[in-house]
Amino acid sequence: MTRPADFWNTVYDNDTAPWVIGEPQPAIVALEREGGITGRVLDPGCGAGEHTILLTRLGYDVRGIDMSPSAVAYARANAAEQGVPSAAFEVADALALGDRPEFAGDPPGSAPAFDTVVDSALFHVFGTEDEPRAAYVRSLHAICKPGGTVHVLALSDVEPGFGPRISDTLIRESFHDGWTVEDVRPARYRGRVTDPVAQDAAHLEVSASGHVDLAAWLARIRRR
Ligand SMILES: C[S@@+](CC[C@H](N)C(=O)[O-])C[C@H]1O[C@@H](n2cnc3c(N)ncnc32)[C@H](O)[C@@H]1O
Repeated sequence: MTRPADFWNTVYDNDTAPWVIGEPQPAIVALEREGGITGRVLDPGCGAGEHTILLTRLGYDVRGIDMSPSAVAYARANAAEQGVPSAAFEVADALALGDRPEFAGDPPGSAPAFDTVVDSALFHVFGTEDEPRAAYVRSLHAICKPGGTVHVLALSDVEPGFGPRISDTLIRESFHDGWTVEDVRPARYRGRVTDPVAQDAAHLEVSASGHVDLAAWLARIRRR
């Protein structure tokens, strides 16, 4: 569900985010090892910044953006703590990236900036709301180079769990004009059980490290 920045700020300020796990998502680590990430990279809805930190450490030119100032403050502190102070974060709305000349080119669309987008658990936030979801897809189209790749790691509705869970069909149907959905495969998304999700997570097995692995989709989508 689309939420204002204040909602997300509170989650970071109170340390109740079930997605803040102190490490990058294993599915994104594997994606990088498989060679799925190339060129200039955008990490929209970067949250605690783990993926921007990981990719910066590995030598990628990557930008993490989040609409929540508290998330960006958290990510910057996290990067400094992990010894990667050059990791670049900024506050920005992922629904309006095309308005940014440095992302979309000037005039907009003339020179999109990014070769790869790594969306970890942002797309599903817009879940069943048609307009924000369509705006997000348009926004990605504006900043992604022709031939570039968008990877979407999103919670899946095939198992009970917590958070906004979506179908693979929703991913396929959302990226139509100007995109080719090349692959949507089952994956896992690692989380932790915090108070706001405790009830929905009661049936989940918590690992020794305090994590739960939730059903997810990993989609690879090519910008035409
Ligand atoms: C479920 S969290 C995922 C965080 C991170 N990518 C991860 O996997 O750990 C979603 C993040 O998207 C951010 N967000 C929500 N709506 C956004 C928007 N319109 N533009 C940018 N960021 C947004 C939230 O502040 C939050 O940090």
